[in-house]
Amino acid sequence: MKKIEAIVRPEMLEPLKNAFLEQEVGGLTISQVMGCGNQKGYTDEIRGQMVIINMLPKIMFTLVVKDEDLKKITSIIIEKAQTGEVGDGKIFISDIVDCIRIRTEEHGEDAL
Ligand SMILES: Nc1ncnc2c1ncn2[C@@H]1O[C@H](COP(=O)(O)OP(=O)(O)OP(=O)(O)O)[C@@H](O)[C@H]1O
Ligand SMILES: [Mg+2]
Repeated sequence: MKKIEAIVRPEMLEPLKNAFLEQEVGGLTISQVMGCGNQKGYTDEIRGQMVIINMLPKIMFTLVVKDEDLKKITSIIIEKAQTGEVGDGKIFISDIVDCIRIRTEEHGEDAL
């Protein structure tokens, strides 16, 4: 099993959510997050003061999927969230050791 954490622009929430729900994903978690990437923010003028805005609001999707579904899901994220401009976001992928459905105590892929 793999965990996919995709940090994307807030406006990608609806298109990505709908694309995932069309697939047979076991579940998904959406979080409102703040962050910065390489650019470390930008400078803006607010009420006459120059301020550095370095944490931008982003949306994070977390999905745990079967290994065989990893490519399909990352391709959907790239297809929907890529504008080609800086700040499109990132996808982090990690191994998941186990998953337990609390209701039934099933383990592993059966519990996804
Ligand atoms: N190395 C990282 N660790 C944790 N979170 C990160 C990391 N890089 C990016 N993020 C998260 O992803 C969001 C989007 O990052 P962003 O797309 O700006 O990355 P980037 O590397 O600067 O690429 P780009 O050049 O396209 O802007 C950030 O706001 C932050 O929340
Ligand atoms: Mg950036």
